[in-house]
Amino acid sequence: MSIPIHQYDAVVVGAGLAGLAAARELKKAGKNVIVITKLHPLRSHSGAAQGGINAAFSAEDSVEAHEFDTVKGSDYLADQDAVEFMCQTAPELVRWFEHMGAVFSRNEDGTIAQRPFGGQSHPRACFAKDRTGLTLLQTMFEQANRLGVDFLDEWYVSDLIYEDGVVKGVCAYDIKTSKPAIFNAKAVMFATGGYGRAFKINSNAHANTGDALSIVARHGLPLEDMEFVQFHPTGLAGTGILMSEAARGEGGKLLNSKGERFMEKYAPEKMELGPRDLVSRSITQEVLEGRGVGPDKDAVYLDLTHLGEKKIMERLPELRDLAITFLGLDMVKEPIMIAATAHYSMGGIPVTIEGRAKKSPNETVPGFYAAGECSCVSVHGANRLGANSVLEAPLFGRHVGQTMAKDIDELELKEVDESVAERMLSEMKKLLENNGTERVPELRTELQDSMTKNAGVFRTKESLEKQKKVIQKLRKRYENIRIDDKSDVYNTDLQEAIELGHMLDFSAFIVEGALAREESRGAHFRNDFPKRDDKKFLKHTFAYMSDDGEISIDYGDVVLGKFKPEARKY
Ligand code: FUM
Repeated sequence: MSIPIHQYDAVVVGAGLAGLAAARELKKAGKNVIVITKLHPLRSHSGAAQGGINAAFSAEDSVEAHEFDTVKGSDYLADQDAVEFMCQTAPELVRWFEHMGAVFSRNEDGTIAQRPFGGQSHPRACFAKDRTGLTLLQTMFEQANRLGVDFLDEWYVSDLIYEDGVVKGVCAYDIKTSKPAIFNAKAVMFATGGYGRAFKINSNAHANTGDALSIVARHGLPLEDMEFVQFHPTGLAGTGILMSEAARGEGGKLLNSKGERFMEKYAPEKMELGPRDLVSRSITQEVLEGRGVGPDKDAVYLDLTHLGEKKIMERLPELRDLAITFLGLDMVKEPIMIAATAHYSMGGIPVTIEGRAKKSPNETVPGFYAAGECSCVSVHGANRLGANSVLEAPLFGRHVGQTMAKDIDELELKEVDESVAERMLSEMKKLLENNGTERVPELRTELQDSMTKNAGVFRTKESLEKQKKVIQKLRKRYENIRIDDKSDVYNTDLQEAIELGHMLDFSAFIVEGALAREESRGAHFRNDFPKRDDKKFLKHTFAYMSDDGEISIDYGDVVLGKFKPEARKY
């Protein structure tokens, strides 16, 4: 079969806030850029972000306070140079969105309204009701279209062309027809989002299968800080669908089965507005100690009834709708039930502030870039603050687009031939022709259930070693799968099988990183090592996968700055 080879200055994979912001900059700079996404851009997971985007611009607030809250929230693992860049640029970024037409919720005097979020010292999250991500995504998409950015929707990128230490493009196939193509480019950016679907209860879209991470890892390139998985405190009971932190920002209370406002015990000052790692652990602890609610006693109440219908409809209409649809509970009239839900990946492809991907703590890969949730820059360290990712994605996306536009003038197009697609084609062929006995949905469910149980909010050496074995077995069983659909048209059976392979690989990174990190920091809590250990672990994890799937761990330095590590109290 002859495979078309398309040539570009830049390929951007992913059309969420980071990818769109980068593509817009590249197009503006006159570069020949294509955005490839396995979805439609407006179905990117950025659109699911509800609560807000942080920027310190009220008279009472300061950029330094935003920096401090972010570093403290990260349990001091964030790189402070990257945090400074993000917090200093945030007010301008919000204005930039406003000038491009994003409609933010307003105060009576017409200024942009800001609501409190967890772990923050001031109300700092600018918002559009509880549909902030969607508003910003629509704005970005309009602006990218306005400039004439080209999109390939419903194309699945399944390999990176990485040869002789240089990235030369990507291999992809059209989900609609299964036809493959090679995209040869001077520069490639991954902006593919997170991987929450590795867990049973999660707030993520079905598409969040962490493809890019495993694609990168299979080339022997590192992943950074993968053990830090954020559990959002308030997912709808049973499904994990996001109930924005905005609910607590607007005054929501958490209650256990005894009617106690239990956050008094865990975060007496900040209460429900403690940082996510702490509030998620507190909720899970209440459940483990038998004070849960609901048919399985595995949830707690989120009570918003005191806010009244007017405020709920003005500020949280989407949340009300979701709770009625998925739980049959109307938050205007009664408390709803929530539990911690896998939400965000702090780790990812290691990058410099300019978005250049790293092949070790101090070396970069020519032609390769990343931004947004699939990357680790690292502004979130061990625990991200709410409303800092809707900030990070377009802010670094835009910045990385500018870097790429400059680099492209110096980069040569390293031409490739059809042989670069061999790996993608043989993976597809094998999955289509394999006639084993194992089924994708069953293996995926086993992975999700066991990750939640053994590598979730609380972890121990024993639970992680158990999970390591589960993954080893699942990887073996994956070799023996069979898919039913052998056709070329919208073969989602095939796509889900490829995605499951990715989920198994990056899950192994989460577990190995968590096993090696014998301390508790941010979202990574080890019952057997409940204290933070700055002497040994004030370090970023850099993990590498060998050809036989074994993972080795190395460490890189954290960039410290004006905030010295101290105990976190809320
Ligand atoms: O709770 C939320 O609205 C989620 C926001 C975020 O993850 O930043």
